Amino acid sequence: MTPNRRIVLSSDHTAIALRQAIAAHIADHGWEPLDIGPTTPDSTDYPRHGEAAARRVASGDSRFGIILCGTGQGIMMAANKVKGVRCGVCAEPYSAAMIRAHNDANMLALGARVVGQALALAIVDAFLTTDFEAGRHAPRVEMIKALEG
Ligand code: RB5
Repeated sequence: MTPNRRIVLSSDHTAIALRQAIAAHIADHGWEPLDIGPTTPDSTDYPRHGEAAARRVASGDSRFGIILCGTGQGIMMAANKVKGVRCGVCAEPYSAAMIRAHNDANMLALGARVVGQALALAIVDAFLTTDFEAGRHAPRVEMIKALEG
């Protein structure tokens, strides 16, 4: 079976240009970006966009999700309310690698008012090139899942 290379992207109004740059970047690296918008600069509510992306990941439609708002924090909080999603906000590449390696994160949140484009792309690369290590980390991730009820 062909591995799922689709990555859903969404954001609020603060992060449209950065989100589109990330979509182009990951396409250059062999991923299939699914950019679900928004595309206009009108003020919009980050929980709606975080939820929409998270549902794509939780359903298996997309392997990963990348979501953005001004800080990354609010959209991360919304995404993490969807069962099956583990999303972390990262402002440097080390944490992005570690949320994959240790936490088996399936979504990455970024703050468009926190990181510039070059740093954001480095964070995305760290996230997408690191595998879950499993081993001693697997039961801890299971403990997170058990909290979902
Ligand atoms: C929008 O002004 C801002 O609140 C939003 O992008 C995000 O930073 C919330 O967490």
